[in-house]
Amino acid sequence: MALRSQLLRKVFTTNGNQVRQLHELKGAERAGVARLREVLEDRLQDIKRAKTFKHERVISSPQDTKVKVKGAEGEFLNFCANNYLGLSNHPEVVEAAREGLRKYGAGLSSVRFICGTQTLHKELEHRLAQFHGREDAILYGSCFDANAGLFESMLTPEDGVFSDALNHASIIDGIRLCKAQKHRYPHRDLSELEHLLAHSDARIKLIVTDGVFSMDGNVAPLPGLRELADKYRALLCVDDSHATGFFGATGRGTEEYCGVMGAADIICSTLGKAVSGSAGGYTTGPKELITLLRNVSRPYLFSNAPATCSGCFLEVTVDKPFAENLPVENV
Ligand SMILES: Cc1ncc(COP(=O)(O)O)c(C=O)c1O
Repeated sequence: MALRSQLLRKVFTTNGNQVRQLHELKGAERAGVARLREVLEDRLQDIKRAKTFKHERVISSPQDTKVKVKGAEGEFLNFCANNYLGLSNHPEVVEAAREGLRKYGAGLSSVRFICGTQTLHKELEHRLAQFHGREDAILYGSCFDANAGLFESMLTPEDGVFSDALNHASIIDGIRLCKAQKHRYPHRDLSELEHLLAHSDARIKLIVTDGVFSMDGNVAPLPGLRELADKYRALLCVDDSHATGFFGATGRGTEEYCGVMGAADIICSTLGKAVSGSAGGYTTGPKELITLLRNVSRPYLFSNAPATCSGCFLEVTVDKPFAENLPVENV
């Protein structure tokens, strides 16, 4: 106990040298940490040689079309945030967050099923399901978590998942976690997908695709995917993170853009891009699936409830189509 509090004091009152002492044993660095540094240094060099080392620019202003960057003079035009509707720093969202913090506190310090569900969460889930015209919805801390918790929960080795080759990393990782038969079809290639579906005798067949693909910005062929799903008794799951709230005439996403409202059986999406400007994710679809996710989905069961701010955009956006609420220049 004494050692523990000594270590904590060093961490919290630290300068660089004191942190280093944490890893020392009798004046020398612990062998395990020294080895780790060696191995990681090599890997970091590899990343630098591949020119994929990431340098983060530090923004010293709110997220917006113009931002200030630490260490640089003036303002910069920002073309790379996913703040499609300008909600990150929208005055009404900020005001709603203030009011929400006053009313609900900062967060729950608990997972949802123990004592972490507030009226705000239930309301948000209800209104997100309504927005998409689905039976029910479940919130997660992020859409990454929503995807990490979906496939393992709903699919067993008797089932099959059919995933577009360019799907988002969170779908790829979510599929890795499940025991279903895994099939990857070439990007947007309906004939190859049909071949795979036709040769599968899986109990549940789940086709999964980004709605708008996050890297290339192109759109999934939803009408064709729906036709194949119907022909082969499959389900269609669309991750609409890059579409919800602003794509399609009323912001209903890729289905609306493609003129096939209701084509997806399951929609996963994020509250961290167009919608809310904050963070969070959700899955919406058949009520039995959502109930199952509340019972077995690990990122839901074993992670804290979404923070208050994630829900505070409700009054500003969800009631009406998101895009209708905002000045045209933000859309
Ligand atoms: C298609 C897609 N799905 C999921 C995510 C993850 O969303 P979140 O930031 O809510 O975890 C992203 C984010 O880049 C995405 O583009």
